[in-house]
Amino acid sequence: MKLHPIDFMELSPKVFQLFGTQTPLLTAGDKNRCNTMTIGWAQLGTLWAKPVCTVYVRPERHTYGFMESHDYFTLSFLPAEQKSILTFCGTKSGRDVDKIKECGLTVAYGAGDAPYFEEAELVLVCKKLYTQELSADCVLDGGPIDRFYGAHGNWHKSYVAEVVEVYTK
Ligand SMILES: Cc1cc2nc3c(=O)[nH]c(=O)nc-3n(C[C@H](O)[C@H](O)[C@H](O)COP(=O)(O)O)c2cc1C
Repeated sequence: MKLHPIDFMELSPKVFQLFGTQTPLLTAGDKNRCNTMTIGWAQLGTLWAKPVCTVYVRPERHTYGFMESHDYFTLSFLPAEQKSILTFCGTKSGRDVDKIKECGLTVAYGAGDAPYFEEAELVLVCKKLYTQELSADCVLDGGPIDRFYGAHGNWHKSYVAEVVEVYTK
């Protein structure tokens, strides 16, 4: 079945499953170059009267450069049985391997030539609105900090983006 567009307001996803167990591929780039990686941390909601999605990317990721240099990114939610792809794209770096080719994923393009995957059952095309580096200075409850940042730091950068297109099957 092919992906077709729907309105964001029609979406009624189980967000904790989407970001907790299904975990999407975050893809950024354009028709010439792109990269993808698995993400687990994200939110869907509303900001400045727009439907938004927020994602968090560590600067060490190869995908980070694409997130910085492009205005759009996508989230592709693959069917649950494609878990091996999520493991692969969440443990290998695009610096070392062409993950899209290795996984046999078919690239399509949304707004801003943002790449996504036809194998997905849900796709969000997102346009960056606001970015900010997470910082130890802003943390109110230090509990999770040691677990996720420890001595090495390497804090994620957050990207709040308008969801400009939604595709589903
Ligand atoms: C389930 C899962 C969730 C992940 N979530 C994130 C995330 O939210 N942010 C992040 O920066 N890295 C996350 N990662 C790690 C990246 O996917 C991983 O480091 C990947 O190899 C980076 O690829 P790249 O170097 O090609 O960008 C996650 C990995 C897995 C397996």
